[in-house]
Amino acid sequence: LRTILMGPPGAGKGTQAPRIRDEYCVCHLATGDMLREQIAKKTELGKVAKKILDAGELVNDDIMVGIIKDQLENNPTCKNGFVLDGFPRTIPQAEKLDAMLSDRKEKLDNVVQLQIDDQLLISRITGRLVHPASGRTYHKEFQPPKKPMTDDVTGEPLVQRSDDNADTLRKRLVTFHQQTGPVVEYYKAKGLWHGIDAAQSPSVVWDNLSKVFRAPP
Ligand code: AP5
Ligand code: ZN
Repeated sequence: LRTILMGPPGAGKGTQAPRIRDEYCVCHLATGDMLREQIAKKTELGKVAKKILDAGELVNDDIMVGIIKDQLENNPTCKNGFVLDGFPRTIPQAEKLDAMLSDRKEKLDNVVQLQIDDQLLISRITGRLVHPASGRTYHKEFQPPKKPMTDDVTGEPLVQRSDDNADTLRKRLVTFHQQTGPVVEYYKAKGLWHGIDAAQSPSVVWDNLSKVFRAPP
């Protein structure tokens, strides 16, 4: 399976993608998680990225394309395919992904957009808790951990992302509509795009995703 999961901040990409990864034995490439890893390690890229993420803007296309290219070439878990989460976010990123795949004689199976009204996202974003090391995601209200502020698997503390506040969310939504909106049209024109109602419960969203993946091309 080679698929792209699109959608605004809080739509549920990071909630659904690990399930796709496990079910289809593909790699889950989450560009936001990779940038947060660089920030945590305080690398040169991390220092630059921190300011951009906290401003709700986008990191440079060439950097992001380089990260994905490196993963597709060198990550052994991508051999069976991939689910991209948070990439591509601009038309140049989508075009460069196409070029990369055609060099590898590979094709996308589909592009799925998790569709949800902006006003439903504020509570999802401000209630989100994450386990930084694994990227596992919880929600204070909608998907609480067994013990407050504690990862179910490792027992380590959960944190809030520094861009998960109302002000940065507003900017992230503007960026999403302006810069990622055209990417939807790009994939619609190629006949690859599917929309799914992401305001449903995680299990209903999963059922609908599975239907897209099972459908003949
Ligand atoms: P990124 O990490 O990709 O952030 P995002 O796109 O804003 O998406 P989120 O991670 O906020 O949302 P999600 O859809 O994963 O939601 P989740 O499943 O966690 O990117 C961060 C930043 O990095 C960008 O702003 C940019 O600066 C930079 N960046 C990344 N990629 C880039 C690129 N390609 N180019 C340039 N810059 C890039 O769910 C949210 C919450 O809701 C959770 O608490 C969850 O438990 C809960 N929830 C999920 N589903 C449901 C449901 N069905 N019902 C109820 N609650 C639910
Ligand atoms: Zn995410």
